[in-house]
Amino acid sequence: MKNKSLLMLVLGVLSGSLSAKDYLISTPNTSLLITANPGEKSKFQYYGSRISEKDIQGIYDSSLTFGVESYPVFGLKTAGERAMAVTHSDGNMTLDLVVENVRQYTEKDGDVTEIRMKDLVYPFILKQFFKAYKGTDVISTWVEVENNGKKPVTLHRFASAFFPVHRGDNWMTHFHGFWGAESTMEEEKLTNGQKVISNKDGLVNSESDNPSFLLSLDGRPQEEYGRVLGGTLAWTGTYLIKMDVKNTSFMVSAGINEETSHYVLDGKKTFVTPEFAMTYSTSGKGGVSRAFHRWARAYKLNRGNIPHDILLNSWEGVYFKVDQKEMDQMMEHFSAMGGELFVMDDGWFGNKYPRNTGSSSLGDWEVCKEKLPDGIEGLLESAKKHNIKFGIWIEPEMANTKSELFEQHPDWILRVANRPLSTGRGKTQVVLDLTNPEVQDFVFGVVDNLMTKYPEIAYMKWDDNCCLLDYGSSYLPKDRQSHIYIEYQRGLNKVLKRIRAKYPNLVMQACAGGGGRVNYGILPYFDEFWTSDNTDALQRIYLQWGISNFYPAIAMASHVSADKNHQTGRRIPLKFRFDVAMSGRLGMEIQPRDMTEEDKAFAKRAIASYKKVRSVVQLGDLYRLVSPYDRKGISSLMYVTPEKDRAVFYVYKIEHFVNMLIPSVRMNGLDAQKMYRLADLTAAKADKPCPLDGKVISGKVLMEEGVVLKEILKKEYSSMVLELQEVK
Ligand code: DGJ
Repeated sequence: MKNKSLLMLVLGVLSGSLSAKDYLISTPNTSLLITANPGEKSKFQYYGSRISEKDIQGIYDSSLTFGVESYPVFGLKTAGERAMAVTHSDGNMTLDLVVENVRQYTEKDGDVTEIRMKDLVYPFILKQFFKAYKGTDVISTWVEVENNGKKPVTLHRFASAFFPVHRGDNWMTHFHGFWGAESTMEEEKLTNGQKVISNKDGLVNSESDNPSFLLSLDGRPQEEYGRVLGGTLAWTGTYLIKMDVKNTSFMVSAGINEETSHYVLDGKKTFVTPEFAMTYSTSGKGGVSRAFHRWARAYKLNRGNIPHDILLNSWEGVYFKVDQKEMDQMMEHFSAMGGELFVMDDGWFGNKYPRNTGSSSLGDWEVCKEKLPDGIEGLLESAKKHNIKFGIWIEPEMANTKSELFEQHPDWILRVANRPLSTGRGKTQVVLDLTNPEVQDFVFGVVDNLMTKYPEIAYMKWDDNCCLLDYGSSYLPKDRQSHIYIEYQRGLNKVLKRIRAKYPNLVMQACAGGGGRVNYGILPYFDEFWTSDNTDALQRIYLQWGISNFYPAIAMASHVSADKNHQTGRRIPLKFRFDVAMSGRLGMEIQPRDMTEEDKAFAKRAIASYKKVRSVVQLGDLYRLVSPYDRKGISSLMYVTPEKDRAVFYVYKIEHFVNMLIPSVRMNGLDAQKMYRLADLTAAKADKPCPLDGKVISGKVLMEEGVVLKEILKKEYSSMVLELQEVK
């Protein structure tokens, strides 16, 4: 690029075709620069801190530009990774794309740059999009492919994103996991070679690893300093994220996992990849997280700015033993503690086959008359009597082989015709074929029937306890079987879209055997997610820490459960359990009848305290202070309002040894000039708050010197939640 100044383009709201070459896509703190000359390859030049037009020349002069293709395709000069690979109907396996034109326009939620490329020989169009979400630091990218020919083109590879990163002391953070240990943070230095994060499950896509990662450019990533890029694939199916690291270059690609999903694109049809969202921060991982949280609340959660109710879920309290009396007493007790919503979990349905274990009844979404003779009506009456909202559990994408649904519609199941049927949970669970519009109607009907009959239902927990088992659909044609993973997700999306169009205010939780569906592909239809079936407060500190890197507290369901814990058998004081759950969307998952009067009184106080600070926790900015992964014996975090007038601070003792060092904790995100009054929100004894209660301390002291905790965190599982309020 010789004379940049002639070629520069103004960022912003432009429409129509443009002929200029440099496209600067900016958010308040970041910029992405693309060069796109008609007839040439589109080039990815820069992604980093916000720059203005006058900086562009400097970016070129400092050799900060990459000059690599923004969407490289397979076939010519074939070496290296490619974003797309196809086979044309004549067997030709090459693409050669050049820019046709570029459009920039404004949508309701962001400014879009659309680079239209065409193949030089085949009637094949690829549009690459970049969207800068308004009021956030998130830019997303995806592509749309148009087959303008008459015959099909087969897509073998179709990444959503493909971009370079500056090579240096690069570290990657990702969130590996398994049932009960989802989103376990892994941090590693990237050495030469390829690093892959992927999922091939098809449904439970974040149990193996979350489709999100952080990349540090400056060595081991830090919470509040250093350059960090964060990316997440907004897709709830199989995915493949690849880091291709060489001595001097570093390319990232992210998209649907095409290994089992080649896609036959018919003539005159288009194919759109999922969105990949990214942000960049010079304030470390914390900066990345806060950017994603704001974006999620504004655009990627259903009603992401409305704080959520405090709920009691029946699962760990009664498991499948649901009945009217049990539900009524749970509502009564919880309401007396200040609870706002009761959710009846699994076990309420099925008549020919009552749901008493995980091995029958899915699909038969009629109330079990034996267990609930008064029906949902009876439960709604109880809820009314106890002045509490009512919610219900469903798993509508599934059936059991022992169910009326399976007997009536064996063809609605995903299965391979000439092979035995595989089964999941309870050795009988199978997956419905959501590629089939009839099945889509049925799944929509599960929600619609309940909501039409009982519009008072305020909440639904949408579970999925099975991966996509058998790769076979009796609905899809023989030559489109390779579309199953993709068409399943499209079917699910259609259903969820219909539900949201009709029931925008129904609060819905995405659950998949715990935290198996925590991704921005599904979350736009949901208000929150179930973080994990593991409710052990100690392990939750780690799980929630991991999740918080990309997902905000408002969506992170965090429940107080029994002592001893059902997953780990650990015994932890109620205060600690509450203090952990109160750092997310507080709820309970317990049999309240088994709680002592003293425990109930404590729970009542803690719930009242949470209500006071709920908006700060659920809508505030997160500052992670001491990582549990750093093995310092404690973990600490806080939320601060954007105005910096209120905050909530948490600290937990997670190791306990005689004479151990308890580090003091420096707070963050406050205004150094402001004075804050501290209040102990969850003192074990109401009349014995911690020594910091009532103290007025400046933001400067709290952030620069911090608070000394050795007296406060003396005992095993000691913890503290402080409210901070500006004193004017
Ligand atoms: C798995 C979920 O994660 C649990 O919370 C519970 O809803 C069970 N399924 C019910 O079967």
